[in-house]
Amino acid sequence: MDNHQKDIVILAIESSCDDTSAAVLRDGILLSNVTASQAVHEQYGGVVPELASRAHEQNIVPVVDAALKRAGVEKEQLTAIAFTRGPGLMGSLLVGVNFAKGLALALGIPLVEVNHLQGHVLAHFIKENGDETAPPFPFLCLLVSGGNSQIVKVNAYNDMEIIGQTIDDAAGEAIDKCSKVMGLGYPGGPVIDRLARQGNPEAYHFAKPNIPGYDYSFSGLKTSFLYSLRDWLKDDADFIEHHKEDLAASLERTVVDILMKKLRMAVKDTCIKHVAVAGGVSANNGLRNAFRDHAQRYGWTIYIPKFSYTTDNAAMIGIAGFFKYQDHDFCDINAPAFARVG
Ligand code: KG4
Repeated sequence: MDNHQKDIVILAIESSCDDTSAAVLRDGILLSNVTASQAVHEQYGGVVPELASRAHEQNIVPVVDAALKRAGVEKEQLTAIAFTRGPGLMGSLLVGVNFAKGLALALGIPLVEVNHLQGHVLAHFIKENGDETAPPFPFLCLLVSGGNSQIVKVNAYNDMEIIGQTIDDAAGEAIDKCSKVMGLGYPGGPVIDRLARQGNPEAYHFAKPNIPGYDYSFSGLKTSFLYSLRDWLKDDADFIEHHKEDLAASLERTVVDILMKKLRMAVKDTCIKHVAVAGGVSANNGLRNAFRDHAQRYGWTIYIPKFSYTTDNAAMIGIAGFFKYQDHDFCDINAPAFARVG
């Protein structure tokens, strides 16, 4: 073994939506992960891009400082900087991307670009103390967030195929929009999750899509929820207040059923029974229970992330960056941020 080999110390930066996050990893082990979330959007019922960029601009320096301090690492000890290049909100991305570029230039160290969605998938490889169980390759990952719903076949750290994805809304987006109609605030996912625990998932039935392959669609569910609610409110102006638990449970059940149906198909066709879930919606208890149920019923080996790594965080960008660093896959200083996939 080469005793002179230097540690790989990576600073990771994530700013794709409304969380400013920085993490530090040494040789793939997480030393710190600091996130500043933006409460400013709650009053608007959704993320306001301009406000998100401004908040990132305020948060980025203190968040990076705190991550370095917590890790006990000086800037000069960094080997590389990993950053989220996209997809996400352009104004938000620009803050993290340009900060990463400026710091890398000043320190004379390489940059590693990370695709935000691949970061979510690789969150399963975040190591804090070494006793975590990571999925073996190949595995399938259901990636469900506010902006995406995909089934990903993961062949290796840096080799992923999207085999199914939403053709319209994402699962989290549909939940958030339905909860907004119910007046539950933003983001609706955690509120729906909490209310659903006390409701009857069979109380109401909403439209489920019928599209081929492993693709998803959630716009029909959203419309069906909206129209049903409008009819019920005609008879009872307090319908939502009287039935919010049952509405939440039925909505959650419908989303989970839609997600699991295509995932079952993908597992059956690929014969891959190692199945992971990732992204913000993977915090959902109904979805987590459905995974546990499928593990028992169909013999899947399942991988469910820690709650702290379900929503946007820089730890996942750091581990994804570490794997790319090991492949010497560096990024040009001119690489622009990208808002959309493809
Ligand atoms: O991955 P994420 O933090 O951001 C994106 O990259 O989109 O996901 C945010 C989404 C939101 O739609 C939010 O409502 C949803 O994840 N979410 C949940 C739960 N916690 C967050 N959805 C259902 N149940 C939850 N417990």
